[in-house]
Amino acid sequence: MFLKERVKALAQQQRAAAIAFLLCLPVFPAVYKSDRGAVVSRSTLASEVGRDILKQGGNAFDAAVATGFALAVTYPSAGNLGGGGFAVIRLSSGECRALDFRETAPKSVSAQTYLDKNGQVRDKLLTLHTLGSGVPGTVDGLLLLHKTYGTLPLRDLINPAIQLAGEGFVLPASLVESFGRQLTDMKRHPASMDVFTNGGTAYRNGDRWVQRDLMRTLKRIAGKGRAGFYEGKTAELIVREMKRTGGAITLEDLKAYRSIWREPVRGSYRGYQIISMPPPSSGGVLLVQMLNMLEDKQPGKLGWGHPDLVHWMIEAERLAFADRAVYLGDPDFNPLPVEQLIDKQYAKSRMNTVELMKAGDSSAIAEGKLPYESPETTHFSVMDRDGNIVAITTTLNLPYGNKIVVPGAGFLLNNEMDDFVVKAGVANSFGLLGSRLNLVEGGKRMLSSMAPTILLGPDESMAVYGAPGGSAIITTVLQVTVNLIDHKMTLDQAIRAPRFHHQWKPDQVLFEPFALNPALRENLTKRGHKKLVPCEVYISDVNGILYKNGLFEAVTDPRHDALPGAQ
Ligand code: DON
Repeated sequence: MFLKERVKALAQQQRAAAIAFLLCLPVFPAVYKSDRGAVVSRSTLASEVGRDILKQGGNAFDAAVATGFALAVTYPSAGNLGGGGFAVIRLSSGECRALDFRETAPKSVSAQTYLDKNGQVRDKLLTLHTLGSGVPGTVDGLLLLHKTYGTLPLRDLINPAIQLAGEGFVLPASLVESFGRQLTDMKRHPASMDVFTNGGTAYRNGDRWVQRDLMRTLKRIAGKGRAGFYEGKTAELIVREMKRTGGAITLEDLKAYRSIWREPVRGSYRGYQIISMPPPSSGGVLLVQMLNMLEDKQPGKLGWGHPDLVHWMIEAERLAFADRAVYLGDPDFNPLPVEQLIDKQYAKSRMNTVELMKAGDSSAIAEGKLPYESPETTHFSVMDRDGNIVAITTTLNLPYGNKIVVPGAGFLLNNEMDDFVVKAGVANSFGLLGSRLNLVEGGKRMLSSMAPTILLGPDESMAVYGAPGGSAIITTVLQVTVNLIDHKMTLDQAIRAPRFHHQWKPDQVLFEPFALNPALRENLTKRGHKKLVPCEVYISDVNGILYKNGLFEAVTDPRHDALPGAQ
C-alpha cells in the first residue's frame, strides 16, 4: 500500500517537473500550422528553401531534395554532400518505401586497415583521418529521389543552395559557436580553415559566410547530375585529397556508389502503423521491437514519467540494444533476422524476463566512452498537401565529420567508418558494440541508428519525424512515439518532453534535466539502476510534422534555434 502511494506521489512530482522543464525551454514560435504542407529542418534558411519549392508547385520530394542541398550549405556540421543518410517516404497513393544512401566502405579497406601491428585500434584513424570516410551517398540519394518522384527541374531545386553558397548568408550565433569548437581539429587542414575561418580568424556573429568552392561543386551537380559529383572534377578532387592524406576512396569507388531502395520496417502499436528505416540502419528494427515490448505495459495508463513506465522503457532499451550488437549489420552482406526481431511474441518473451522492481544486468564488459557528442546528425521532414511524405536523416557522423574539407570542392568528408566494428569488444564513439555482421569489409555499409519514421494513425492522422544523436536517435524517436500515442500529447509537447536514454552498454541511464527528478532517481536506484547520468547537452533534436483534420502542424525542437517553413 505504502509503495502504491509512493509511486503515485512520484508520478505527480514527475509530471510537475516535466511541466517546469517545458516552461524553462527557450520560448519562440517553433510550431507552425498550415493547410498546404510544411518543411521542418535544423536550419530556418533550408526549411524556407523547401517551403518555397512547395509554394512553386513542387511536391514533397522536390522540397526535400531542395532542403537537403540547402542544408549542405547552411548546416555544415551534418547537412552534407560528403556524407550519407536514409529516407523513408510515403506516396500519396499510400505506398511506402525506404531509400538507403548510406556511405559504403571503400573497396580496399578491411578491419585490419584500422589496427596497428599489436592488433590495437589506431588512434583517431576512424574519426579524424580520411581513412574514416566512407564513399559518400547523399548526392546520389537526393538525385535518385528527384529522378524517381520529383516534378520540378533539378536545377530549380539546387539553385537556392547555389545562391546561399555563392552570395552567402549571415551566420547565426549557433553556427559561429560551433565553428569555433572545431578549429583545434581543423588547424592541420588549410582547406578546412579556409572555409570555417574568416581568413584565419574565427568568424563572429553577424559575419556573412560565403562558400565559393561549394557553390562550384553544387553547380557541377546541377549541370551534370551524378557525374557532377561521382565523376569528373569533383571526384578527382576527392581522390586527390585521399592520396595526399592516405585515405582509401578511389575513382572506381565513387563511380560504383549506388543508393538502394529497400522495404521499410513496419510495425503496429495500439492501432497506429509505424514505418521506419530497415538495415543497414538499426533504427526501425529497434523502434518497432521496443514498441512491441511496451505494448502490454499500458504506458498511457501509467502516465508520463511514472517510475514503472520509466523502468519498463529502460529495460526495453537494454534488451533491444543488446540484440542490435549481436544481430544487425549490412543486409547485403549477411542475412539478418529482422522478422524475428520485430515479432510481437519475441518481444513478449524478452520482456517476460524483466522484473518490475529489479534492473536488468548488462554485465558490463568494456564500459564505453560517454556516447555523447553534441547531436550533429540532422533530420528533416516534409509533407505536401497531396499526402506525399518524406522523412530524411542525414549525417557526416560526428560533428563536421572528420573535419576535413576537400580542397577545391568546399565540402566536408564524413567519418562514418567509425560506425563499423573494427575489433571485437571495442565500442565506437557512441559506446556501441557490434558483431562480425558489422565488421569492416570493402563495399559494406556500416550499421546505423538513424530512424526517419512515419506514423499513420487510425484516425487518418499522419506524423513524420526523426532525430540525430547516434544511439540516442532510436530512444528519442521511441519517446516521441509513446508521447504521441500513449500520452496523447500534441507533437510540440511530445518533442519538448525531457528525454532519457539507455543502450545496454555502457550500463547507464542518461537523462536531460527534469527527465528523472530526484524522487524518481531514488526510486530507480532502489530497483538497481545504479548509474544515472545527467546529460551536459540536450539529448537529440527532433523535427516533425503532424497532419490531422486537414491541418499540418510543423514543429522544430525547442532545443535548437531553427524555425519551420510552413506555407
Ligand atoms: O548512423 C549513425 O547511427 C550515426 N553515424 C549517427 C551519428 C549522429 O547521430 C551524430 N550525432 N550525434
